[in-house]
Amino acid sequence: MNKIKILMTYKNTEGLEKLLNHPQVQIDIKPKPDSEDFMNLIKGYDALLIRSEVRVIEQVINNADKLKVICRAGTGVDNVDIKSATKKGIIVMNVPGGNTISACEHTIGLILSMMRNIPQAHALLKSGIWDREKFIGSELQGKILGLLGLGRIGSEVARRMLSFGMRIIAYDPYVSEEYGRQIGVEIKSLDEVLCEADILSLHLPKTESTKNLLNKETFSKMKYGVRIVNCARGGIVNEQDLYEELKSGKIASAALDVFDKEPTTSSQLFELPNVVVTPHLGAATEEAQTKIANEVADMLIDYFFSGITRNAVNIPSCDLDTYKKMQPYVGLMEKLGSFQGQFVEGGVKEIDIEYIGDFHKLNSYILTASYIKKFLDCFVDIDLNLVNAPVIAKERGIKVVETKVSENKEFKETVSIKVITDKETTSILGTIFSEKNLRIVEIDNIYSDIEPVGYILSFSNTDKPGIVGKVGTLLGENGINIAKMFVARDKKGGRAMTFINVDSEIKKDVLDKISNMDGVTRVKFIKL
Ligand code: NAD
Ligand code: MLT
Repeated sequence: MNKIKILMTYKNTEGLEKLLNHPQVQIDIKPKPDSEDFMNLIKGYDALLIRSEVRVIEQVINNADKLKVICRAGTGVDNVDIKSATKKGIIVMNVPGGNTISACEHTIGLILSMMRNIPQAHALLKSGIWDREKFIGSELQGKILGLLGLGRIGSEVARRMLSFGMRIIAYDPYVSEEYGRQIGVEIKSLDEVLCEADILSLHLPKTESTKNLLNKETFSKMKYGVRIVNCARGGIVNEQDLYEELKSGKIASAALDVFDKEPTTSSQLFELPNVVVTPHLGAATEEAQTKIANEVADMLIDYFFSGITRNAVNIPSCDLDTYKKMQPYVGLMEKLGSFQGQFVEGGVKEIDIEYIGDFHKLNSYILTASYIKKFLDCFVDIDLNLVNAPVIAKERGIKVVETKVSENKEFKETVSIKVITDKETTSILGTIFSEKNLRIVEIDNIYSDIEPVGYILSFSNTDKPGIVGKVGTLLGENGINIAKMFVARDKKGGRAMTFINVDSEIKKDVLDKISNMDGVTRVKFIKL
C-alpha cells in the first residue's frame, strides 16, 4: 500500500506523534506557503493539515489531484472554501472544542486588560514612567456583558463572568431561552444586546451573514462608552468603523485578538491608546495545542485506516459504534442505488426515499448519499463519494426528497425508493434480513424476493406460459448458470417481471436474443 501523504502548513508537531510515527504515513511540513507555491505543492497529497495560516481557496482545491481530506487543527474553517471542497468530494474536518477553555480564558484576560489598562501601564512602567493618574480603570461588577454567540466559548465566558458579579445577556439565534436560563444568561434580540451591553464580546463564527456585523450602523445603537472584545474572527467587526468610533470616544475601548488580515503588524488601530491587541493567541496554550494535535492524529488515522469520518463540517459524521451499526444499511442503500441506476429508463428528475420503521432512526444523510453515489455511478464519469454525490445530483437537476416514517409495514425496517424519470416512475422496497442477507421485497408495488447481489438478468413480459422457459433454455445453451429466480406479477395474465441471479456475465448477443422474444420487453443486465 502506498503511504498516505499529508501536507502540513504549520510547524508545531507536538501531539502529532501517532501520525508522525505511523509506518504508512508521510508528513511533509511546508510552513505558510504563499498562494502560488501552495497551488503547486498540493498536488499528490492525500490530506492537508492546516491552522489559520493559509487560505485554502478554490484554485488550490482545483489543483489538488489526490486530496481527500482538509483537516483544520482548530475550530474556525472560514479560511477554507468549503463549497469548492464539497463539490470536489473533499471532506473538511475541524477539531471543535479542543481550545474552548483557552479561548475563553484569553477573552477574560483581554477584558481585564482592557478594563484596567494593564498592557498600557506595563509598557509605560517598563519605559521608566510611574503614572497612576493616567490609568484609572473600571470595575466589572454590576456591568452588563453582552455576548454575540453562546456556543462553547461564549457559554464558558458567561459562566466565569457571572462570578465577577456581571449581568450576562446574549444574542444567539440557535440557542433556546431555556439553555440561557440554565447557565444564567438572558437570551435577547440582537438589537437589545447591542443597546444594553456595557461590554460586547464576540463568540460567533465568521460567515457571509456575520461579516461586518459590527459596523457604523450597529455601533450607533450601542451605549456611549461601550467596550468591544473580539476573540472570534477578524472581519466580523469593521475595522475602519471601529477606529472612527474609538477616536470619537463613542466606543471607550477595544480588545482584539483577531484581525481582518492576518498576520498583520500595522494597523491604525494599533496607534490608539484605548486598544489592547494580541496576535491571535486565543488557542495558543500548551494544553489546547496538545489536545487538538492528539485529536487530529486520531481523526486522520481513523479516516485513512478505518474509513471512519469524524468532525466533518461538510457531511454529518458519526462515532465508531454508530458507524459499525450503519454498515449493513449502507450496504443495502449502495446495492439499491446501483440496481435502480441500471434499471430505470429516461432522464432522472426525482428520487423519493422513505425510511420506514427502525430505518428512520439512522443517520439518513449517510444512507441517502450512499444510494445517490451508486445510482449516479451508473451514468456519470466523476469520482463520486459521500461528500460530492448529493451536490452532483442537485447540479444535474435531480431532486432528492427524503421522508421518515416510524411505523413499519410487514418488515421491521424497510426503505422505499421511487425514481421519477421523464419516461416512467419505478419504485422498490428494500430490507435487511441479516447483515449479508439483503432483499428487494417489492418492485413497482408488486411483491418480490430479489437478492441484490452479483449479476441479475431482468426482463418484463406479459404473464403467459413459455417465456421464462425459453429464456432459461437460451441461458443454458450459452453456459450461463442460474443461481436463483423470481417472477413478480401484478395479476394472473397481467404484467410480469422476471429477475434471474446468474453466475456469470451475459453477452450482448444473448441479451439481444432475449429482447427479440415475443412478449418480452425491457431487458436489463444488472451488475451489482
Ligand atoms: P461554537 O460553534 O461552539 O459557537 C458559535 C455560536 O455562534 C453558536 O452557538 C452559534 O449558534 C452562534 N452563531 C452562529 N451564527 C450566529 C449569528 N449570526 N449571530 C449570533 N450567534 C451566532 O464555536 P466556538 O468554539 O464557541 O467558537 C466561537 C468563535 O471563536 C469561532 O469564530 C471560532 O473560530 C473562534 N475561535 C477563536 C479562537 C482564537 O484563537 N481567537 C480560538 C477558538 C475559536
Ligand atoms: C480556532 O479557530 O481554532 C482558532 O482561531 C485557533 C487557531 O487558529 O489557532
